[in-house]
Amino acid sequence: MKTSLLYLLALPAVYGAPTSNPPLRGSEVLLGYSASNTVSDQNTDDIPYVPVPGQTDTADLGAYLDFSDAESPQPMRGSTGGTDPGPRNENYDRINSDKLAPPGTDEGQTINAQWPMGLSHNRLGLNGSGWARQENEVVMPGATLMAGVDMRLEAGAYRELHWHVASEWSLVLNGSCRIETVNENGQTFVDDVSEGDVWFFPPGVPHSIQALDDGVEFLLIFDDGSFSEDNTFLATEVFAHQPKAVLAKNFDLPVAAFDDIPEDELYIFPGTPAPANISEQNVTGSAGILPQSQSYSYHFSEQPAHEAQGGSVKIVDSQTFPISDNTAAALVTVHPGGMREIHWHPTSDEWTFFISGQARATLFTAPSTATTFDYRPGDVGYFPQSNSHYIENTGDEDLVFLEVLQTDQFSDVSLGQWIGSTPKQIVADTLHLPQSALDRLRTEKMYVVSGSTTEI
Ligand SMILES: *[C@@H]1O[C@H](CO)[C@@H](O)[C@H](O)[C@H]1NC(C)=O
Ligand SMILES: *[C@@H]1O[C@H](CO)[C@@H](O)[C@H](O)[C@H]1NC(C)=O
Ligand SMILES: *[C@@H]1O[C@H](CO)[C@@H](O)[C@H](O)[C@H]1NC(C)=O
Ligand SMILES: *[C@@H]1O[C@H](CO)[C@@H](O)[C@H](O)[C@H]1NC(C)=O
Repeated sequence: MKTSLLYLLALPAVYGAPTSNPPLRGSEVLLGYSASNTVSDQNTDDIPYVPVPGQTDTADLGAYLDFSDAESPQPMRGSTGGTDPGPRNENYDRINSDKLAPPGTDEGQTINAQWPMGLSHNRLGLNGSGWARQENEVVMPGATLMAGVDMRLEAGAYRELHWHVASEWSLVLNGSCRIETVNENGQTFVDDVSEGDVWFFPPGVPHSIQALDDGVEFLLIFDDGSFSEDNTFLATEVFAHQPKAVLAKNFDLPVAAFDDIPEDELYIFPGTPAPANISEQNVTGSAGILPQSQSYSYHFSEQPAHEAQGGSVKIVDSQTFPISDNTAAALVTVHPGGMREIHWHPTSDEWTFFISGQARATLFTAPSTATTFDYRPGDVGYFPQSNSHYIENTGDEDLVFLEVLQTDQFSDVSLGQWIGSTPKQIVADTLHLPQSALDRLRTEKMYVVSGSTTEI
């Protein structure tokens, strides 16, 4: 059987192709050494390149290497590495210089702590109504605690009425939308949220989202790394999968009322524009509206940022947004030259989203592995619980990013505060810092350092 199939496949080649076409396989004459073998005399050693600032410094200094305009970026740092004749994709190398030429302090293999949403499959909505891209364990296996979705709804478009097993925390990235829910007690909730605001829907609470006149883009974070946007419970599907006689009985309606229900899900689809007056969509039953203290929205955009040395920080967690009892977040701005200080989160993994500017971070995992990642807007980062990291602004504009934790209170341990608040003798014995350095250690948590005092 196998032989005859091969014979059939070979026939067209035998009869159709010119005799000069070599066969698919060579011959055993090519095995191993022969005096007649040809050896390349191409010199791969004289690849021209110009080192970028910092590249010839000792590898352990590990300064950020800006390859964006480099003539020919090469995987070299200090005395380590060597040229790359290819094959390669220089576009990746230019924006991931810490991967191409890592600091000498990187070691071993950590989890992959980076996923660009730009590499996620985009699920397009009906009739130009929007799209959604997701990051979950399928693309980022080490990100087990949380998954994220970046979603766009054009003006008037809906994310279909739905619910899910996971909880949902959201930050509005652009524009505005109306969110609406009914909880298990029949209490209703409706609100309009704009860029910079957040919402939280507990597990199983059904909700809808409709873009207002300016359209909307928002980020969703779920408390489950294996969450998939493709597997939510949709209003269309729950109707499509009940016997029509059961629907009629359930709603006390004639069967004909369900003649036109959609056969397939709508997911993201165009809608009738929401009335500008939100009160027209305020439906209340005997249970009334959701009490203010349990609000599903928090107008984070109106919370002023707390100034730090090299930028600013805003935190939202259950202290001021009580319903969000398992998700806490910090929105961080880092000015050029500044850095979110080295820290770790003692109670949760961190799911990070880069909103603007550019950054790098080193993920350190016990006992001795470390990887440095470069981030751009639209990238997801991930730092497991108690694994240290910093986030350094590597560009010349403000860096803005979001840190999301699965915990009721946002918390972090600052390396600088820990060392600065430890008796100096212990620090000196352990780290061999000179007295001049011990004198300058700080007992305060900085959140964002400016880098202005750095003397290399
Ligand atoms: C979407 O476009 C199709 C084809 O143009 C049209 O038949 C349908 O009515 C549109 N649906 C909506 C909801 O606009
Ligand atoms: C929102 O989108 C508009 C249209 O593209 C853009 O001009 C604006 O800068 C965006 N805002 C933010 C914060 O990205
Ligand atoms: C909805 O109606 C309730 C009273 O039933 C009222 O307290 C609440 O303010 C209304 N909300 C909006 C958005 O109109
Ligand atoms: C908004 O709608 C509510 C409920 O329909 C109505 O009572 C109220 O007068 C409207 N407000 C305006 C400004 O039209």
